[in-house]
Amino acid sequence: MKPKVLVTREVFDDVLEYLGKYFDVTSNQSDKAFGPDELAAKLADKDGALTVLTDRVDGALLERCPRLKAVCNIAVGFNNLDLTACTTRGVLATNTPGVLDAATADFTWALILATARRLTEAEAWLRAGEWHGWKLKQFLGFDVHHATLGILGMGRIGRAVARRAAGFDMTVLYHNRTRLPPELEKECRATYVTLDELLARADIVSPHVPYSAASHHLIGAQELARMKSSAILINTARGGVVDDVALIEALKSGKIAAAGLDVFENEPRLNPEFLKLKNVVLAPHIASATHATRRGMAMLAAENLVVALTTDQRPPNLLNPEVLGTAG
Ligand code: DGY
Repeated sequence: MKPKVLVTREVFDDVLEYLGKYFDVTSNQSDKAFGPDELAAKLADKDGALTVLTDRVDGALLERCPRLKAVCNIAVGFNNLDLTACTTRGVLATNTPGVLDAATADFTWALILATARRLTEAEAWLRAGEWHGWKLKQFLGFDVHHATLGILGMGRIGRAVARRAAGFDMTVLYHNRTRLPPELEKECRATYVTLDELLARADIVSPHVPYSAASHHLIGAQELARMKSSAILINTARGGVVDDVALIEALKSGKIAAAGLDVFENEPRLNPEFLKLKNVVLAPHIASATHATRRGMAMLAAENLVVALTTDQRPPNLLNPEVLGTAG
């Protein structure tokens, strides 16, 4: 008998076909998110799951899913998975690092440019029929070229964002838990600085850290107060890395100039104050949303699930190797 797996949301047909070779697959092509009870009921007799970032997998859920051996998240972020609970119950947990770095970095740049050059604000005004003639001082924005970009968190995505800055002749500053080796600093043309120096000097600040208790409100009222009044904040990392209430206050009072946001606290119920602000560009968590990248993420998660449930090998993107009794 094939192991039974649940795919919690709509995925690509070829991913389902691939899974079907190994598993008895229950999929949710309706794409309507399961609530916690429905998810627990659907998973009760399953050996594995392909999950997305809106599925909360915690101790309470796992208690109701005694057969579950692997949860493979279709995301690089895994703050929806309680890793301790997974490990305690011997459930392998995986994510999808790497495949989305370039698309996420591209979109970070889309937000940087759109925000600095007021693109969405100007387009909305044009569509509303307000354009009656060219003016010298119409929709003046900020130069991106030769500006200073400050990257917080210099993992794969942070570095991909940094590399793209070369085309804009920018100065790149970064802050990271650990300093990069010299060859990577050189490749990214990035200079290591303290967080305070980065906030004080950057024209554009862009965090690229995973969300955790340690990064909760990494950018809050104090950090926003240290930024230039002409500065732009970008967030394609995770809601919660930025304190949205503090950011709204900073945008309203002119403590910073503008923000470009793809992620929010309490998604999708973002703070309604954002919708009233003109100096913010808003996107619905789509930084990795290209055909190729989202398919690549889903396929990588499926491959993790196949290795986890059909072999005694370590799945490529295992987050809790302790389950296998191996370190690191
Ligand atoms: C991730 O992978 O964590 C993204 O936020 C979803 O694309």
